[in-house]
Amino acid sequence: MAKEKTVYSCTECGGSSPRWLGKCPHCEAWNTLVETVPDAPAGGGKNRFAALAKSTPVTVLADIDATEVSRAPTGIDELDRVLGGGIVEGGVVLIGGDPGIGKSTLLLQALDNLERAQIPTLYVTGEESGAQVALRSRRLGLDHSQVKVLAEINLEKILATLANTRPAVAVIDSIQTVYSDQLTSAPGSVAQVRECAAHLTRAAKASGTCIVLVGHVTKEGALAGPRVLEHMVDTVLYFEGDTHSSFRLVRAIKNRFGAVNEIGVFAMTERGLKGVANPSAIFLSQHTEPVPGSCVLVTLEGTRPLLVEIQALVDTGGPSPRRLSVGLDRDRLAMLLAVLHRHAGVACYDQDVFVNAVGGVRISEPAADLAVMLAITSSLRGRPLPKGFIAFGEVGLAGEVRPAPRGQERLREAAKLGFSVAVVPRANAPKKAGREFEGLTLHPVDRIEEAMEVVRSLA
Ligand code: TYD
Ligand code: MG
Repeated sequence: MAKEKTVYSCTECGGSSPRWLGKCPHCEAWNTLVETVPDAPAGGGKNRFAALAKSTPVTVLADIDATEVSRAPTGIDELDRVLGGGIVEGGVVLIGGDPGIGKSTLLLQALDNLERAQIPTLYVTGEESGAQVALRSRRLGLDHSQVKVLAEINLEKILATLANTRPAVAVIDSIQTVYSDQLTSAPGSVAQVRECAAHLTRAAKASGTCIVLVGHVTKEGALAGPRVLEHMVDTVLYFEGDTHSSFRLVRAIKNRFGAVNEIGVFAMTERGLKGVANPSAIFLSQHTEPVPGSCVLVTLEGTRPLLVEIQALVDTGGPSPRRLSVGLDRDRLAMLLAVLHRHAGVACYDQDVFVNAVGGVRISEPAADLAVMLAITSSLRGRPLPKGFIAFGEVGLAGEVRPAPRGQERLREAAKLGFSVAVVPRANAPKKAGREFEGLTLHPVDRIEEAMEVVRSLA
């Protein structure tokens, strides 16, 4: 097949140029031109439109068969939970994460399970040789695995194999290694990644094969290659967690077939990833006695409450003190410090402030605010919070403490794990129950100053 002449199109305005330029000639944005395969040449004018219209029938919405999507469970409960029940026919899943976090391991385990349930699979490996994949499967104890392996990085050959073998599930490990003949740019470049993902997505929709794309994540936490990948696919899963600890979290950040923000929790063992069915206590560090700068937060990830310890260290800073956070948003930290100063009289402007969510978990919900502020204050004053203490609640710029969604579920989980004192937004405290809730003593508050007062009185 003759090579189509490529064009460069702008990711900002969509304008195109026959050659690569640093600045888009249409909208003058910098570094936005990427290589693309042009559409088939237009021609035929009116007649062409008439012919095209005939070949693409329009359907009335009510006439479209809307059967519930069929799902095949992978047999790994924690993975099925984030997928929304299992893999979906024709679905495209993008799974991202740091190198070495366990993407290939998890997917190989899932494919083996599916294959054992007589669901045909294909594992396309571009990063490792067939022998390396085989070695991993032995390590995982998957003897006599019937998973089909293809060591290939050429998109056209992968598509041909998919069409030939018609697997129900195919894993492409990884999308950054795949390249298309149609483009001259190198594998892993924005243009290649986008083009290859688009072709594979089309193949999935046309054939009903569920395709799982593995993607690398850059240091900043974004998928290397274009964010457009996230728009193209049905489900986006991210691996989180500290590679030094054995726990791994898989979070759904987009899911057309299930709930977002649902998480699956795994432990990396000698024999691959094992689901942790009851993970609520794994993000607590085990102090026997309370220490300053530590506050336990009940966060709600997807449908499950999780207890996460927030640690803060406040120490005398230089002329421009540092604010660092791990697992929490840094801009939000700056805002909380300002609220602390203004409304609770806790001054950290000449102090370095470090905040960390234990276990490498990432917390994006504002309900973490109160725990972060209490941990910072506790570190600054060198006074630990009471034993068995938890807190949650969003804090606004005016110093008001706002309720968190599904407060009772959070409180119930904390009570179940033996916590005994809670500072919570007033609206989250059950009205009838009074101060006691399943063994927890509740201190409902409306404002951050009140929360500080409660903590002082408990010490
Ligand atoms: P891997 O799945 O290769 O990561 P990714 O595909 O995301 O880059 O995971 C590799 C890491 O997991 C490696 O550091 C070794 C470790 N590991 C185990 O601890 N136990 C196991 O059974 C396997 C297969 C890997
Ligand atoms: Mg890998």
